[in-house]
Amino acid sequence: MVLERYLIRPATQDDDPDVVRALLEPVDFMDAAMPEEIVDRMRTGWRLPAQFGTATLLLAQEHPAGRIVGLAHAIPPVQWLMEMESGLGRQLCLRLSRALVEMEAVSVADSARGQGLGHRLVDELVRSYTRQGYEAMLGGIHTHKPHLSPYYEADGFHILSPGAPLDLQLPIGRIQYPADASMRHLVRPLAPRVSYGAGVLRGLLAGDGARERRNTATTPASGRLRRLERRRPDAGVVAGAGWCRSPTTDLLLCAGIGVRGMSSSTLTTV
Ligand SMILES: CC(C)(COP(=O)(O)OP(=O)(O)OC[C@H]1O[C@@H](n2cnc3c(N)ncnc32)[C@H](O)[C@@H]1OP(=O)(O)O)[C@@H](O)C(=O)NCCC(=O)NCCS
Repeated sequence: MVLERYLIRPATQDDDPDVVRALLEPVDFMDAAMPEEIVDRMRTGWRLPAQFGTATLLLAQEHPAGRIVGLAHAIPPVQWLMEMESGLGRQLCLRLSRALVEMEAVSVADSARGQGLGHRLVDELVRSYTRQGYEAMLGGIHTHKPHLSPYYEADGFHILSPGAPLDLQLPIGRIQYPADASMRHLVRPLAPRVSYGAGVLRGLLAGDGARERRNTATTPASGRLRRLERRRPDAGVVAGAGWCRSPTTDLLLCAGIGVRGMSSSTLTTV
């Protein structure tokens, strides 16, 4: 039983970056800098500023306190959302960064493959983000790795055609999650009201309208102002964060100031 043999847990700053590098090696990132960016994030901490949701690196470790033999990594698509901000508005983009998450890497050491550990890692990511209220998990597979389609289908993902964009149906209308000709989108609803069919993910943020109407009915204008004021201190936190984009998955990587891969063109403050 995999659960008895391996412990699946979040990475910590005490974990060996070289072990993580070795596990990321076969993942086949289009961006060669990506593994180092993930390792950098191990050192600088995992939590994104609260309003940008949560990035996660799970490790699978042999019991008890043995070798690290697997990993899975996910992060909300913050870079893409920031690019969408002028059209969608900041609040909606921030809300989406707590509703959508992208699975970026799953890897299991040769010695531990074929025992269901890869599936367990994906399941743990799904469980963790579902618990946090995320509504859908996205991902991408290279077209030259066709064996991964049945693999992720077994994990409950829908697999889109190569290069096919994913439409996201929001209460305000439909937006398109961009595609790359060499990749196939993966999508798995995490919330009961969210469903996928024919290239469209439906039901995202469907609960927000009712919540907003309740707030509007019960919150006087001065109360709303106080809520806004409470949010302002967050801006200081966000201003100190660096972001860089992954061309592979259209993801934004969060890191501390001055870390590898961050350029002034990708720096942003909000
Ligand atoms: C994909 C990967 C994570 C699977 O890990 P794993 O622990 O061996 O997977 P599991 O034991 O949970 O599942 C094994 C299943 O995957 C299938 N599979 C995995 N890799 C395969 C391959 N290269 N060719 C064919 N089938 C493969 C097995 O046939 C098996 O299918 P089954 O469940 O129907 O029996 C692992 O092969 C790996 O690390 N690959 C390199 C990195 C990579 O490509 N990651 C995915 C993209 S981020």
